[in-house]
Amino acid sequence: MNLKGRSFLTLKDYSQEEIEYLLNLAAKLKENKKKGILGQSLKGKNVALIFEKPSTRTRCAFTIGCIDEGGHPEYLGRDDIQLGHKESIEDTARVLGRMFDGIEFRGFAHESAEKLAKYSGVPVWNGLTDSYHPTQILADFLTLKEQFGKLEGLNLVYAGDGRNNMANSLIIGSAKMGINITILSPKTLWPDEQLIALCNEYASKSGGQVKLTDKVADVAGADVIYTDVWCSMGEEDLAAERIKLLSPYQVNEDMLAMTGKSDTIVLHCLPAVKGNEVTYQVFEKFAKVIFDQAENRMHTIKAIMVATLGEE
Ligand code: CP
Repeated sequence: MNLKGRSFLTLKDYSQEEIEYLLNLAAKLKENKKKGILGQSLKGKNVALIFEKPSTRTRCAFTIGCIDEGGHPEYLGRDDIQLGHKESIEDTARVLGRMFDGIEFRGFAHESAEKLAKYSGVPVWNGLTDSYHPTQILADFLTLKEQFGKLEGLNLVYAGDGRNNMANSLIIGSAKMGINITILSPKTLWPDEQLIALCNEYASKSGGQVKLTDKVADVAGADVIYTDVWCSMGEEDLAAERIKLLSPYQVNEDMLAMTGKSDTIVLHCLPAVKGNEVTYQVFEKFAKVIFDQAENRMHTIKAIMVATLGEE
């Protein structure tokens, strides 16, 4: 599988086979790291890490993943460069593309990531935009493969804000990989209809299903309940309204009991607001797998860089 030179902006751009390849590569890199074996695939490569928004997992995953493979990561925070202040994205991209071999971008508008990719001439990896968070999905799916040994046929319920970047990316990724995804959310927060239509096409090929519901009882049969914060970055002023709207969708013991299964797991992309989208008790009950999921950010992000930029 040759993914050299490709950007990673949304899973829409990657086939089921390519996603599977990245997951298998991540598993191999993880196994190697556990044995103390690191690579040199990014030796001599300089990687720019642009962060308009704060980050713990994504920043650290790109930094460590790059260093583990012999590359040099350079963190460029929102007040460190001219981008967004005195220089356009197009010009910033053309400068960075002359100096760096790859660019990670975390920011607000997805169009910014697209422009960086278009004008820089080097691979651009989406570390989260308002629309998508595709690197998170690879970590989620690696975790699911570790837990269940497969992706196809799993029943995944995403409970919460059904139109945020996490929901969007989970629907795309699940539909591509044959996972049956249910978005459990109040109707006012259901995903974009065009995205659902597109993902129904993906699902018709992979054998997965995409379902929208506002009924908590539809968690019945869930292998996985996934949740995220009720207010995404930049929406903090909506907190009171969201808490009122989403409280019935909190992941708690009552919801878990409604799955009718004893082996359902709970995932969270983190950071969590315990007491809102998930109770403290349920979070702690599933802390081991949730922090496996967080660790897997590093192995999967490393795999993306190695596959698109690394020298074999
Ligand atoms: N899940 C995630 O993207 O975490 P960070 O915001 O800490 O990068």
